[in-house]
Amino acid sequence: MNICLYTSNTKEKFDKLIGRDNITILGIETSCDETAVSIVRNGTTVLSDILFSQIDTHSIFGGVVPEIASRAHAEKILPLIDSALKDAKLTFNDIDAIAVTYAPGLVGALLVGVSVAKSLSFAYNIPLIKVNHIEGHICANFLGANSNLVPPFCAVVVSGGHTAIYNVKDYVTYEYLGGTTDDAIGEAFDKVARFLNLPYPGGPQIDKLAQSGQANINFFKNQKSISSEFKLSYSGLKTAVINYIHGMRQRGEDINLPDLCASFTATACDLLIDTVVAAAKKHKLKTIALAGGVAANTYLRTNLPIVASKQNISVVIPPHKYCTDNAAMIASRAYFAIKKGQDIAGLDLNAGIV
Ligand code: KG4
Ligand code: ZN
Repeated sequence: MNICLYTSNTKEKFDKLIGRDNITILGIETSCDETAVSIVRNGTTVLSDILFSQIDTHSIFGGVVPEIASRAHAEKILPLIDSALKDAKLTFNDIDAIAVTYAPGLVGALLVGVSVAKSLSFAYNIPLIKVNHIEGHICANFLGANSNLVPPFCAVVVSGGHTAIYNVKDYVTYEYLGGTTDDAIGEAFDKVARFLNLPYPGGPQIDKLAQSGQANINFFKNQKSISSEFKLSYSGLKTAVINYIHGMRQRGEDINLPDLCASFTATACDLLIDTVVAAAKKHKLKTIALAGGVAANTYLRTNLPIVASKQNISVVIPPHKYCTDNAAMIASRAYFAIKKGQDIAGLDLNAGIV
């Protein structure tokens, strides 16, 4: 059977958008445990931004339960789209394109956003744009206060699922420079926190405890050196910390929780900071832009600018609400794709396949 790729005349509408001055995009994000809808003009101006976090639902299980996440997205997505339009005082007649996260993420969760976006594109005859979630995080740097940021720059995406360093050559060309070969940095925070019986998500809990601690525990016998390929690994650190906790518990010794959290945070972040600054320096990039949930970490936010400034590199960090998963970054990424005539999708768009 021949699938109709583009509904009605959405391809013609898409082609006309390329040269247009004002483009208003409805973004949809459902890749993990946040249902998010946003309306963004010209990739930078956020007209409305709505988010329903499922954290309370998942925290009793100590992590995201995919089936529960999908069901919650299905329940929330249509009312949130309604609210986003109302907040921006717009109707579907004002929307030039619909942007949706199609990968990477939990397949069932992504499928909800992709199915709704395809349905709306078909029903209202609005071009559909597919957005890669990690590229969305990079574009969070173009939103609001940081909208003066201009490529080239070094982008770092640090979240529960990703630890990746990019050379952002222009608004749509992202060269992968390096990143984790195993666990993401946020995953290491969450797993260590879980072992300490701290609530999910563990990153903010460890961050808070670290504030009153001293980084006085060395988890590695030998200091880790920076890989020339800017490779990172967090699985070994996670295991070293968990083994340390286990050993202390077996010996009946008291764990100084703030010191443990401060030591783990400093080890995890220093590794990242040194690698990112080295990558930016090698590629002669004068700005490092952070994104992803771990960009909220106090130690990282404080120390990355200090280390980078010694190499004459500046650091920009988006407002917290755009660091964590959101739909404004998805709409922003779609705007830059449209301007280059890229990433139009049809009714054959799959969820979860990069
Ligand atoms: O970007 P995000 O909201 O979702 C993903 O795409 O993963 O990132 C969530 C991750 C979690 O691992 C969470 O523990 C971590 O970001 N995180 C933090 C902090 N706030 C959130 N990690 C360390 N320190 C924080 N303050
Ligand atoms: Zn994310």
